Amino acid sequence: MTDETIHFNLFTMNAVEHVTAGNWRTPGDQSHRYTELDYWQEVARLAERGGFDAVFFADVRGIYDVFGGSRDTAIEKAVQTPANDPELLVPAMASVTDHLGFAVTRSTTYVHPYQLARELSTLDHLTDGRLAFNVVTSYLESAAENLGLDERMEHDARYDRAEEFLRVCYRLWEDSWEDDAVVRDAEAGRYTDPEKVHAVDFEGDHFSVPGPHSCEPSPQRTPVLYQAGSSDRGRNFAARNAEALFVSQPTKEAVRSYVEDVRERAEERGRDGDDLAFFAGIAPVVGETEEVARAKYETYRENVDYEATLALLGGFMDLDFSELAPDQRVEHIETEAIQGAVNALTKHAPERDWTVRDVAEFCGLGSTSPVVVGSPEQVADELERWHDETGIAGFNVKEIVRPGTLRDFVDLVVPELRERGLVREEYEGETLRENMLGRRYLADDHPAKR
Ligand SMILES: Cc1cc2nc3c(=O)[nH]c(=O)nc-3n(C[C@H](O)[C@H](O)[C@H](O)COP(=O)(O)O)c2cc1C
Repeated sequence: MTDETIHFNLFTMNAVEHVTAGNWRTPGDQSHRYTELDYWQEVARLAERGGFDAVFFADVRGIYDVFGGSRDTAIEKAVQTPANDPELLVPAMASVTDHLGFAVTRSTTYVHPYQLARELSTLDHLTDGRLAFNVVTSYLESAAENLGLDERMEHDARYDRAEEFLRVCYRLWEDSWEDDAVVRDAEAGRYTDPEKVHAVDFEGDHFSVPGPHSCEPSPQRTPVLYQAGSSDRGRNFAARNAEALFVSQPTKEAVRSYVEDVRERAEERGRDGDDLAFFAGIAPVVGETEEVARAKYETYRENVDYEATLALLGGFMDLDFSELAPDQRVEHIETEAIQGAVNALTKHAPERDWTVRDVAEFCGLGSTSPVVVGSPEQVADELERWHDETGIAGFNVKEIVRPGTLRDFVDLVVPELRERGLVREEYEGETLRENMLGRRYLADDHPAKR
């Protein structure tokens, strides 16, 4: 990405809490309103007022039951449970906004590509081209059991299936219906020209899909593709398929090295690496003055729930932290869950020599991303430094309190960044891809187009 402005996604979940654990207890927090349409429409309006590219919805199917070998901690402490489905919020949020995008997480492990391609085309139509698909392979064992498998598929095998899954979707979205297939000729009684609607005849190891796609081409055809894999296999998958990538690493150096590495892998696969838009996770705590921000930060820290944080991280890493003493050092492990979450601590910031207590304290507010605390100027300075030094397009804003973190950010940090010419005053395009990447359709060097 060559544009100089900073792009933002709101990083959220249709649940009480996403990547912080315990702050639903902070006075004034409205996380419990996640069941209300009004709440999400308010969030959408706020994010659009702040010039955000998109609201991003994480999603899991299953419960965090690694901690102590039980689901009780996750249920008691609202660790990504209860959680509603994100996809169904999109039309309601789109109806109160004109430009904001919506990125929904869907797992390639548990659904069928024909079905998902249809759902996402429908949403791309209803949002006038403001949809993104966060492609995940899913990491919770409990999800596998809920969705009809005896056990979770092996890490790399999940990516094999994901590759094939996307190939099916690409054929349906890009190749099945020609642009001018719909003629709507009332006199001739001809809605669509059958010559311009093609079967896809896909035969693979996992899927057999003759097609054609059931939907006429939506404004973006393929929704904007987000991905966050960070293992070796995950990076190759992202380098091949993703247009926007999430980085959740604790230091600038780790983010920069991820960005450079994935760009290089993209080039090796015949894509322009500079085209990829990277978003680093960040949890901002901002106040009118540094003192106000520090006071908020102290409150948030007090409200972090130690056990809940370890239950969340334990699910990411497939590591039962209840078996480790607080002062015990966290050793590197190879996991079947999110390898990148382990690497963030043990490989990409090993100098910190993390104990279990350090991990819980660091991750309690921002998960494996940093917390930035300060006045609007201080937070803007820090974001500008990250943006300049790492090659990212922008940030995933992680919420500590809701909707307070977003409101503070939009009311305090965005005006400061706008004064510096770093956040858009107006949206440039109509679709999400135009606003984020400056083009309406997938780039010609993307595998879906080749
Ligand atoms: C910032 C970030 C957000 C993610 N959001 C989700 C999510 O909402 N749902 C999900 O199932 N996986 C999510 N993941 C997991 C990744 O998509 C990926 O499946 C996981 O990192 C395993 O791949 P890896 O071992 O290559 O890292 C996320 C990962 C990161 C770093």
